[in-house]
Amino acid sequence: MASRFFDHKRLEKNVTLLGVGALIVVAIGGIVEIAPLFWIDSTIEKVEGVRPYTPLELAGRNIYIREGCYNCHSQMVRPFRDEVERYGHYSLAAESMYDHPFQWGSKRTGPDLARVGGRYSDEWHVQHLVDPRSVVPESIMPPYAFLKERPLKAGDMTKHLTALSRVGVPYSEEAIKAANDDLKLQTDEFGDLEAFSKRYPKAQVRDFDGNPKQITEMDALVAYLQMLGTLVDFQAAAPQEQPR
Ligand code: HEC
Repeated sequence: MASRFFDHKRLEKNVTLLGVGALIVVAIGGIVEIAPLFWIDSTIEKVEGVRPYTPLELAGRNIYIREGCYNCHSQMVRPFRDEVERYGHYSLAAESMYDHPFQWGSKRTGPDLARVGGRYSDEWHVQHLVDPRSVVPESIMPPYAFLKERPLKAGDMTKHLTALSRVGVPYSEEAIKAANDDLKLQTDEFGDLEAFSKRYPKAQVRDFDGNPKQITEMDALVAYLQMLGTLVDFQAAAPQEQPR
């Protein structure tokens, strides 16, 4: 039976027409579902404690990406019991809101790293990266000993922070101006840290690689690993246990 508005028979018999028609209908449905997520604020709920990366952490993150650590490690704890018991609280969208690009991943040759910060000492990380099998005999992770020898050449961090601020990461003008100094400051416990600590609450300040004479790529990578998953205080956010 021909429809009152158009010839439905023709649409059903012509595969090209049917394909185009189906595409249009699906596209409308898709746009209605997906488009609002880009504008409504509740897509990513703000969570207390989440802050942009410090310049040193960013430099470490760049090394993480350069070395392809994401090929074997995810950074997203899924909300399943086995994952939560192994890794800790499941990941919140807000925890990766300043990640460009995000490092969620789906390949886990090694464990998830979203909450690895604070789980091991700096010495453990350095030893593990230099020679994984010296601390985990059955490990198949490749060694990254060269990171300890290479001085960190992060480039101009003011440009890096500027680029990130253009895509919505809230770096203040002072933070951008101070970026190159802040990078060095984070490895110096005796530096003037007042403004730095205000800009980056909970930022860990120390020499990370065990060699205070030089800022190496290892310093940056370990600084990054040690902050992963540490910004949100889940103890404070967790509901209190109810008396039975
Ligand atoms: C070929 C796959 C592979 C690559 C690439 C790789 N890893 Fe691993 N990683 C593993 C495996 C497997 C383990 C588990 C055994 C171990 O602890 O060594 C692991 C463990 C770890 C752990 C300990 C996690 C925990 O909770 O015990 C850290 C931290 C880590 N890797 C960091 C890195 C970093 C940083 C890089 C990049 C520089 C990297 N990995 C690259 C496979 C890989």
